[in-house]
Amino acid sequence: MSRLSVNVDHVATVRQARLSVEPDPVTAALQAELAGADGITMHLREDRRHIQDRDLHVLRKIAKTRVNLEMAATKEMFDIALEVKPDMVTLVPEKRQELTTEGGLDVKTHHESLKRFVGGLRDAGIPVNLFIDPSLDAVKFSHKIGSDGIEIHTGKYAETREGGPGREAEIKRVVDAALLSKRLGLKTHAGHGLDYRNIKDVAAIKEIDEFAIGFSIIAMSVYTGVEAAVREMKRLIIEARR
Ligand code: PXP
Repeated sequence: MSRLSVNVDHVATVRQARLSVEPDPVTAALQAELAGADGITMHLREDRRHIQDRDLHVLRKIAKTRVNLEMAATKEMFDIALEVKPDMVTLVPEKRQELTTEGGLDVKTHHESLKRFVGGLRDAGIPVNLFIDPSLDAVKFSHKIGSDGIEIHTGKYAETREGGPGREAEIKRVVDAALLSKRLGLKTHAGHGLDYRNIKDVAAIKEIDEFAIGFSIIAMSVYTGVEAAVREMKRLIIEARR
């Protein structure tokens, strides 16, 4: 499997810059689907800096692929998830001041509360992935918590350059986490900071079922349009798997 879930948050970032109605992340999502995206991701943040509640509700009604709701483990978001019923939830840590999600969840410290939270969503029929750093401990705790799967944080990998320092070590961390995740029977996704250059090495990891990519695709869309940007990313993923 080599699925691509397109994160459309930054279409909403542009819209919110003028508190306007355009560009609409839902329209972009539909274009992404037409271009072969296997799913759409929206991160409804506590501060509503980009995606708004309306976006998620409209997407849920008209999306033809899988809707992945990225959210923090809060009571407010729990209630929204139960109302919207996305195809899956990815739990992420959230800090108000960060530009984007900075690190994975601390699944060790919070494993009891996460277990209850994940259990509540799963009881409502919503599969849950945990966004974690590529560490074996974090994979083991995610399994213990009872999540359906994980999303491996590729941000550190994305900060390295091809052939540069740390590149091999970061790829190895992602590979090891993916191998253990698969061995434990978890759905294995990866994302954060992936772009048209660095996707190759992670897309070659066959244990990863799905990639969640936002910023680079939306940035490319400004030049080429959403459909061409999505099609090219999908092509690179498929090519890396051959
Ligand atoms: N996965 C998760 C859990 C994220 O928080 C983000 C950023 O919203 C992404 C994937 C996508 O990252 P990027 O926008 O850098 O492609």
